Amino acid sequence: MNSIKNNDLLIIKLGGSIITFKDKPLTPNYQTIEKLSGIIKELKKHYKIIIVHGGGSFGHYWSVKYDMHTQPSKYPDEGVSRVNESMIKLNHIIIEKFISKNLKPFSIHPSSLVFNNLGCRERIVDIVDMIKDNDIIPITYGDVVHTTKGNFSILSGDALMNILSVSLNPLFSIFTTNVDGIYDSLSNGNIMSNILIGANNELLTSTDTDIEFTNMSFDVTGGMKRKISESINIVKNGTPVYLVNGFYPERMVDIVNGRDFVGTSIKLQQGEKGGN
Ligand code: IPE
Repeated sequence: MNSIKNNDLLIIKLGGSIITFKDKPLTPNYQTIEKLSGIIKELKKHYKIIIVHGGGSFGHYWSVKYDMHTQPSKYPDEGVSRVNESMIKLNHIIIEKFISKNLKPFSIHPSSLVFNNLGCRERIVDIVDMIKDNDIIPITYGDVVHTTKGNFSILSGDALMNILSVSLNPLFSIFTTNVDGIYDSLSNGNIMSNILIGANNELLTSTDTDIEFTNMSFDVTGGMKRKISESINIVKNGTPVYLVNGFYPERMVDIVNGRDFVGTSIKLQQGEKGGN
């Protein structure tokens, strides 16, 4: 799509598991939202920023209730309305916090960036024009979207991260979640700080341990496994991906400053297409 590298751009996902209390329906985590916005203010001194946020106990709560998934289908109208309304509410909470911090947010509904689950190139590339000469932070989010012919689907924030990152080539794409990074196994719990992607999309790590995944029951869009597959595509297209614990957002500052950080980086193995 867009081959220009936007070296002053960061695309950051605020995971639903940190901006809401995942086990408490429709409950925002104001403390984390406050902390995250402070760090984003710090990052904004040196970078252009695009934010994508997840649904947590807002969007996911209703999509589980109405059995709505990423697969396009004719879902109950009430479910479509409920998911949509809850995401507007969560987005508004974040927008209000950003405004109070003078971060100048600008909310963009995902329907204006994605059609039938594919990115609308002109609208996406236009975001760069939108922010080039001003101070605005565009914010979009996972939501229920119309696909075609009355079918709807759940579009995850992770899928949006993929669509935006592939088109806009930011310096880094950063996913914040409620865990420290990708664990090599659930039982011994070592964070894999570096994952390299090989020529056949295989994950190369320093150990031979298989990666174990969990899917949280509250999450209709696939949890960590989905996040990794979206990340691999972003990395294959030339953007390094970082997964960090959003309860410690200062780790993002370590990343951009090239310091040691707690988390997982996913990069291309040297010599592969678009490598960094
Ligand atoms: C939420 O997007 C989509 C909806 C259920 C409306 P995500 O799937 O990216 O949300 P989190 O970050 O996992 O909560």
